[in-house]
Amino acid sequence: MSDSVKVALTRRLPEQVEARLSALFDTTLHDADAPLAGEALLARAKDADVLAATLGDKLDAAFFDAVGDRLKLVANFGAGIDHIDVAAANARGITVTNTPSVLAEDAADMAMALILAVPRRLVEGVAALQDGKFEGWSPTWMLGRRVRGKKLGIIGLGRVGEAIARRARAFGLSIHYHNRNPINPHIEDELEATYWDSLDQMLAHVDIVSVNCPHTPATFHLLSRRRLELMQPHAYLVNISRGEIVDEAALAEMIEAGRLGGAGLDVYERGGPNEKLLGLKDVVLLPHMASATVESRIEMGERVIINIKMFADGHKPPDRVILGLDPEC
Ligand code: DGY
Repeated sequence: MSDSVKVALTRRLPEQVEARLSALFDTTLHDADAPLAGEALLARAKDADVLAATLGDKLDAAFFDAVGDRLKLVANFGAGIDHIDVAAANARGITVTNTPSVLAEDAADMAMALILAVPRRLVEGVAALQDGKFEGWSPTWMLGRRVRGKKLGIIGLGRVGEAIARRARAFGLSIHYHNRNPINPHIEDELEATYWDSLDQMLAHVDIVSVNCPHTPATFHLLSRRRLELMQPHAYLVNISRGEIVDEAALAEMIEAGRLGGAGLDVYERGGPNEKLLGLKDVVLLPHMASATVESRIEMGERVIINIKMFADGHKPPDRVILGLDPEC
């Protein structure tokens, strides 16, 4: 039955993933690396049983209202599903799946890289060398701040947050976290992690804040100006989750004014970084690349294939997104 299932892609995926999808299903590839605009996206989805979508595809209630009866599964390539109105999809009998877990370790590596890069002035050091400003070792030049012994506050200790905590422990950081509820006590003990029911209190206590909760209506600007102002002036923020969770304009203003120590960001409120952030020292900016390893992207593709195959064979796909089940903030 699989090969009669019509699958439409919205973006170019890794070659081996596309090859396998084409071998298993009646697959329409998308030969471009830019998201499809509204009408083109709708036309593609109307004609398919499965839409293999990804970040950047706007699948809102209007899309699901207009898509018609054929589409039954949105198999998202990626963990984040804030571009999909899952409730609207489900209300029309359309299942949504994502690709959790497989990218957690690579994403955590990148968060750890940012945790290290900001206080140790890594990017500034590389730039100084490239700009010919290195005149030999100096006892007082390029001094940063020690990472060991600092307190890391993780907002959203789920898969990625836990993988970050394990790395951070090895670097001598103590672990603090804020979730809706405390995590499994065995894992909490193993990480020697401190649970903070109050996000405000945790923010005031820690030296580094790592944002790892999903972006939902409830977490939009969770780190508002008021909350950023609770952080200590030397503290810095790392965000590899979604830009919308942080008031980016307030963040930039506070770093510029010396009221926050800095930031390491992989994600932005409006796709790319706010102009002000681009000109700041003590800021390390990456182009949304935390999961960008060949291995992660192939494994994400594998999850997409498994979800479609299970659906095509009449079973429930394993990575169904179930609203309200997210244990994080
Ligand atoms: C995701 O999976 O949602 C990531 O942001 C893409 O790397």
